[in-house]
Amino acid sequence: MTTTPINELLKRPIAWKTWGADPTVRRLLSGLQANIVKGHGREHTRNLFWSFQGADPNDLRAVVRRIGRNMPSALDQLQAAERFKETGVSGGPVLCFFLRPGGYAALQAAAAAPSAADFVEGMQVRGSSPAVTPPINDPPVAQWDATFQQPIDAMLLVAGDTAAEAAQTADLWKGRLEAAGATLLGFEDGTAIKRRVAEKFEGVEHFGYVDGRSQPLFLAEDVEGEPRSHWDPAFPPHQFLVQDPGADRPTSFGSFFVFRKLEQNVKGFKDQEEALSTALGLAGGPFEERAGALIVGRFEDGSPVALNPLPTDMPPPNDFTYAGDEQARRCPFVAHIRKTNPRGESPLHIAQDFGVATTTRQERGHIMARRGITYGSRVFDDAANDFTDEPTGGVGLLFMAYMASLSEQFEFTQATWANNPNFVAAGTGADIVMGQAAAGPIPIADGWSGGAPVTFSFDRFVTLKGGEYFFAPSRDFLKAV
Ligand code: HEM
Repeated sequence: MTTTPINELLKRPIAWKTWGADPTVRRLLSGLQANIVKGHGREHTRNLFWSFQGADPNDLRAVVRRIGRNMPSALDQLQAAERFKETGVSGGPVLCFFLRPGGYAALQAAAAAPSAADFVEGMQVRGSSPAVTPPINDPPVAQWDATFQQPIDAMLLVAGDTAAEAAQTADLWKGRLEAAGATLLGFEDGTAIKRRVAEKFEGVEHFGYVDGRSQPLFLAEDVEGEPRSHWDPAFPPHQFLVQDPGADRPTSFGSFFVFRKLEQNVKGFKDQEEALSTALGLAGGPFEERAGALIVGRFEDGSPVALNPLPTDMPPPNDFTYAGDEQARRCPFVAHIRKTNPRGESPLHIAQDFGVATTTRQERGHIMARRGITYGSRVFDDAANDFTDEPTGGVGLLFMAYMASLSEQFEFTQATWANNPNFVAAGTGADIVMGQAAAGPIPIADGWSGGAPVTFSFDRFVTLKGGEYFFAPSRDFLKAV
């Protein structure tokens, strides 16, 4: 039996299947919540947002300990996923629990709360704070949904295979938390939408694009299953896990967590795609769909436009970089996936355009583990494998992500990369999908056809309706609070 020191274990992807042979792996994964090292995979979720003010601390602690005992650990989740592959029997509903500083205080555990300033200040302050530079530029809190305008102390995430399973499990815990004096501020339901690609079903977001394909991997078994000749999807677990200040064990880890409700105006976005396709001379022809791919960086079926001039209807690859497309002739610099993960190219451009040294290692350090799900109902025609409606609101993405640093990962990606019109190169423009900066006209070219750049004024069709920063404590802490 080997006992790998915890600091060593967190440097490279963890071989979890041999957990029985290494007590550090077992302790880490048993003490950790589900959904961090890998998405829970359920198609229905309910996020419940809580105020703990006025609740009885003893009663509240008893319910939180019970949540800690009932939630699957990361190890339970991974083992259940293996069983599901073999037997088709689901591991059942998944519970995850998150706290804000006010939640720790209400549990009379204020000393156990992480002290990082970004976490303590929270999204309401950070999103429009002049002290955060460059700014995140969130819309004013007064324009957010009512749930998120109030101080939130905790969030319970319930995930199930059906909407009924998620709702019933959520109701059970809602009753228990309310009996302890907690107040439900509101909840959000998530429902995954699937589209057929190469005879498999891939999750799509409301603009119609396959989402969630590109992920940092921090389990050795997941890395082994991925081609990696060009892009290395392996990341050190310490980029997503932090020692839980509320637990004594050296193997007790938690993770910072971002929740953002992002509303999507589907009609506005689709009309803009069409207008761009007309401006580029692609409308009505075989390459019409490329206009959208130039904005997102992938076609709707997930094929990267850096690799293909047309959708391929193949399983979406992730083993690619922008090497060979340094001048952005195939995939514009402004494309969403190129803005939010330059895949090793930022050192070159930043040095060339701004004379600032940066490394690939630093660039990779900003990547987070995305675990979002779509919300709102749509009309999806299975035979046509596409949506048939185009709502202007009421649908969107419950963006969720785990990370070791809120400011270095989520905030950096949003503000320094996506919002910044001069990233990755001077004059690139802000991210067209989720940038929060004046849109303005930018030159955009369809290099695949060799056409000249057109100047196009993009509008914004994604709006933040509210959100918060949380900490997902270790189960070790929750079970003992
Ligand atoms: C409604 C808003 C959003 C939509 C519709 C959207 C859509 C997409 C799509 C279609 C992909 C391609 C699928 C993939 O490569 O996995 C993607 C990738 C990605 N998105 Fe978003 N996204 C949104 C918000 C955000 C936000 C707020 C962030 C971060 C602040 C973000 C960061 C990323 C990252 C890092 C990738 C992976 C890029 C890569 O590694 O190649 N997205 N998004």
